[in-house]
Amino acid sequence: MKVYHLNFTESFIRPVLDNGVSKVVQFSFSKGKVLEKHKTSSDILVFVLQGKIRFKANEEVILQSGDMVSLEKHVEHSIEAIEESLVVLVLTPSPVSNQEIGSEPRKSVENSSNAKAAVSPQLWSFVEEHAELLEVLDRTAGGYHAETYDLADKMVHEELNKHFRYEEEILFPLLGKYIGTNAGPIAVMLSEHKIIRDNHETFRKRLQDLKNHKGSESDVVQAFKPLESVLRAHIMKEDNVLFPMASSVMSEEDKNEVARKVNEEKQL
Ligand SMILES: [Fe+2]
Ligand SMILES: [Fe+2]
Repeated sequence: MKVYHLNFTESFIRPVLDNGVSKVVQFSFSKGKVLEKHKTSSDILVFVLQGKIRFKANEEVILQSGDMVSLEKHVEHSIEAIEESLVVLVLTPSPVSNQEIGSEPRKSVENSSNAKAAVSPQLWSFVEEHAELLEVLDRTAGGYHAETYDLADKMVHEELNKHFRYEEEILFPLLGKYIGTNAGPIAVMLSEHKIIRDNHETFRKRLQDLKNHKGSESDVVQAFKPLESVLRAHIMKEDNVLFPMASSVMSEEDKNEVARKVNEEKQL
């Protein structure tokens, strides 16, 4: 058993728990704060613990302390705080586990356009790069094949050198002004970047070993599995939580600054 204290905090969004079945997130709305129209890939329950909000989906309702609303997945909704409010959101299934346990083949392009609905256009390039990488990961599903594994290695390597750098050096510092970088979502993303880099290095070594007639194809496949799983989970978190959060908390000016700097880097 574990007790959680849900209190109004300085940071707008605070992930509380993700047990693989459900995900619980706390929102501390200052008066007048708006969570722009977006949708999620999971069914949601919204609890108002404190204050009063305007919740708009198919219709508009006013919810206050003690009220709860339930909403099916993929339904667009927005929240506006009429008073300072503490709101708790429960997503079921947890967006990450939803993807991990799903046995159907992924539709990366469709996922990308779903994710884009909740993400500001200035950040779309991040979602698009994720979709490209996911498509390459999908192709490795049939077991070892030299060409697909080489391509996966090349794409992940590129992701680490460019995309991660755009996040670490451009997006995260600017987003950090709003939600902090030492704890919370950015700290989690950074620690996952490290895990992904380590897993990629191990995978690369196994791939090289195989080319040098050491080790086996199954060693390569085994080394790829943890890399793929952490990458997929990471991308889902960024597409479904971090980027929508960045879209809603960051000023237009800062979002434009992210897009401008990323474009500049790409020109180099
Ligand atoms: Fe990332
Ligand atoms: Fe990313």
